Amino acid sequence: MYVCLCKAITDKQIKDAAFNGAASMRCLNKELGVATQCGKCAVTAKQILREHHSQV
Ligand code: FES
Repeated sequence: MYVCLCKAITDKQIKDAAFNGAASMRCLNKELGVATQCGKCAVTAKQILREHHSQV
């Protein structure tokens, strides 16, 4: 599913980035451009990151 519509980023891409070491929103911003436009996806993206890091 798309998390960031502005940049067409899916939850899978965010999970992959988290798996590859993205630990913060700043990393996601830099790597994928998540939340760099309207910012509406920030909450969901943050949640996906948090879920990923609580599983590892
Ligand atoms: Fe991600 Fe707009 S939906 S910046």
